[in-house]
Amino acid sequence: MAITITDLQKKVQAQEKIVAVSAYTANFTQLIDDIVDVILVGDSLGMVLYGFESTLPVSIKLMVNHGKAVVDSSQNAFIIIDMPFGSYQESKEKAYNNAVSLIKKTGAGAVKLEGGTELSETIKFIIDRGIPVMGHIGLLPQHVNKMGGYKIQGRDNASSNKIIADAVSLEKAGVFALLVEGVVSEVIEKIKEKVNIPLIGIGASDKCDGQILVIDDLLGISSNTAKFVKPYANLKQEIKSAVKKYSTEVKAGTFPAKDHLY
Ligand code: KIV
Repeated sequence: MAITITDLQKKVQAQEKIVAVSAYTANFTQLIDDIVDVILVGDSLGMVLYGFESTLPVSIKLMVNHGKAVVDSSQNAFIIIDMPFGSYQESKEKAYNNAVSLIKKTGAGAVKLEGGTELSETIKFIIDRGIPVMGHIGLLPQHVNKMGGYKIQGRDNASSNKIIADAVSLEKAGVFALLVEGVVSEVIEKIKEKVNIPLIGIGASDKCDGQILVIDDLLGISSNTAKFVKPYANLKQEIKSAVKKYSTEVKAGTFPAKDHLY
């Protein structure tokens, strides 16, 4: 049986941390599915897989293609899919229709969208009609142009108060969990005093109920040098040296050898 929202909530009650990873492909899903609790098909795929400068160009079609690949390759993890930029801001009805489309076409268990209080009505509208929503507050990559870059949030009172107010209003709207990105640690402690839903952090705080990293970052494939990234392997180097070996053998005529021929 795959992990459910109730299982995630039980974990938090039992003070067990939630382990989440952003991943987008069948191969990686099969490798990590029985190790992690949550796989997020994040719109970070635009930058990680397609080399876009930001997540802004990501379309519903891209999310559907990768969401389906992940869901079809998973038997254990709870799968959440990101709503891409432009798919939920115009109206709550449009947001709901796009959420339905993402869920129907992929089979994911929930959607995630970026924003705080200003989106609480939209989020409640989606949840009231049966689709679980994870909120995403703090540093919002889809707001990169408005923020003037990927800047850590909550450093001053106004920013900190906004993030706390966002968390409170999204809990009220019914989100089952909050992803909190790029926020100074003290803000998380204040949020935890006010809300009871699981907090999943990335560049946030060790006090969060769980953590999320992008698979390419944690494997050391990407070039992301952000402070919050910890590469648990150096696959970039492994991949380069494997392909170099292959190249050398092809050039030398030692690959394919007899064992590889029919
Ligand atoms: O798109 C994504 O992968 C995210 C990360 C912040 C986890 O939202």
